[in-house]
Amino acid sequence: MSNIGSYESKYENFDWDISKKELEYGKDGMYNLAYYCSDRICEQGHGKQTALIWEGFKGETKQYTFDQVRVFSNVFAHFLKDKGIKPGDRVCLFMDRIPELYISFLGILKTGAIVQPLFSAFGEDALFTRLDDARTKVVLTTVKHVRKIRRIREKLPELSLIIVVDAGEKKLSENEIAFSMETLPKQENFEIHKAGPEEPSVLHYTSGTTGKPKGAQHVHSSIIAQYITARWALDITPEDIYWCTADPGWVTGTSYGIIGPWSIGVTQVILDSGFSSEKWYKFIQKHKVTVWYTAPTAIRLLMKDGTDLVKQHDMSSLRYMISVGEPLNAEAVIWSKDTFGMPFYDSYWQTETGAIVITNFPGMEVKPGSMGRPFPGITATVLDLRTFQPITKTGTVGLIALKPGWPSMFRTYWNNKEMYESKFKNGWYICGDRASIDADGYYWFVGRDDDVINTGGHLVGPFEIESALLEHEAVAESAAVGKPDPVNMEVVKAFVALKPGFEPSADIELSIMNFIRKRLSPLAMPQEIEFVDSLPKTRSGKIMRRLLRAKEWGEEIGDTSTLEND
Ligand code: PRX
Repeated sequence: MSNIGSYESKYENFDWDISKKELEYGKDGMYNLAYYCSDRICEQGHGKQTALIWEGFKGETKQYTFDQVRVFSNVFAHFLKDKGIKPGDRVCLFMDRIPELYISFLGILKTGAIVQPLFSAFGEDALFTRLDDARTKVVLTTVKHVRKIRRIREKLPELSLIIVVDAGEKKLSENEIAFSMETLPKQENFEIHKAGPEEPSVLHYTSGTTGKPKGAQHVHSSIIAQYITARWALDITPEDIYWCTADPGWVTGTSYGIIGPWSIGVTQVILDSGFSSEKWYKFIQKHKVTVWYTAPTAIRLLMKDGTDLVKQHDMSSLRYMISVGEPLNAEAVIWSKDTFGMPFYDSYWQTETGAIVITNFPGMEVKPGSMGRPFPGITATVLDLRTFQPITKTGTVGLIALKPGWPSMFRTYWNNKEMYESKFKNGWYICGDRASIDADGYYWFVGRDDDVINTGGHLVGPFEIESALLEHEAVAESAAVGKPDPVNMEVVKAFVALKPGFEPSADIELSIMNFIRKRLSPLAMPQEIEFVDSLPKTRSGKIMRRLLRAKEWGEEIGDTSTLEND
């Protein structure tokens, strides 16, 4: 059962100082969030507590205490500092979910450098765009992924070092260094960089409709929100066994896969393996997971495999289950209640918000299909689509908007102040999603307000896909939109107009698919290519993706004159 008081009382009496006090944030002038996720837990006498239980895809396991996390993150920090890494430098993490990923995340932050986590399945183009934009100085990676970086290295003059954390005796190329956390001398001490609360910490790239992905830049004091939301919305206590299924290449995997939970001092379990319902249930049973944070696509896959499979495992350790990343359908909430004896609670937030902002608070009545209510300290509303004024009429669809000022809010988009400023209207931060609010103050998600595709809880920008398509010799024009999918909610569909001299055929489709596969991540790969003579465009020449999308979803397109004038 929940260990948190009622939503109403928490909301009314809330002050971010509650979180600061619990964390002792800023004591002795220390604001660096890495300190609060490792050293502080040890200073409080919990160094022997297990911080991480890791299981690889072959079933191999490793375990680390908070003291080991502290010492090993010091090893990374010393190593980076010796190599000349300075506060503010961008250091990228590009690896699967191995222990080094979680521990070096803190090591990088201890030096004052900015950590830039990137999803290890990214292809060359996706990787290049993000490393180029951030002017990244160092990449930490593994033997499995280093080749992708080698292939783009020449185009990245500021990338001075590649550290391969599992190279062992393997021969590496020039300017690549083999590193081993476990065999280097233990480092009891490291002088943690005394970052200010507003100093940059994490840089997470996220996709929009237009242009390249943008780096949402967070600061050290984000931990004030990540800690208290992990405590109250995810209901984590130091006694729990917590499992966040997200990859730290995405914000859920850092805010709630590293920072939030470790600042509480909870034991985390990590499964570095592809999805399988049976594997997941076995994992929960084996480690006696109590709090489980996952995504609707996974829940839908679990539902597909049926209730019997659940019943064959001991799920009695579970006491709280939460979901994030995409709309959690009412059926999934009802199914989980029937099957596990408790519903999945929904939570809503974004890369930009850094922490949960709207959620089904523990103990609060869950309305299946609703995302819940604003987290304490968050002032939210929906704005009229045209006037950007708060909507007062219950149930009217508008733009989800938040009053700026919560601690984990991104501070800018890296090198893109203009785009950052465009996200604000009339003193509100506009999330880019549509929702309505009911009479009880619950938020009901309607859809995105832009052309970004949410496939399996991952945002994919059409621009990146279209750019990759356009590089193919036969492609004249392209548009990428989401089409309905029973499991992933949407998958990518590409519309392609060919250049004169090329005819649609299975061969050309295969050639295009193979061409873009190397450039994109598997998530962004179109499931289908439809060849068309030309694409619908506005009068100013912009592709009308919304029109193509509406057709895929069988929606009324209505009056297109406004679209044409976009
Ligand atoms: O469209 C919303 C959707 O995911 C977007 C944020 O994606 P990202 O920045 O990648 O962060 C994902 C993890 C926090 C949102 O703008 N989204 C997120 N949570 C929900 C959701 N859509 C519906 N219901 C949710 N609970």
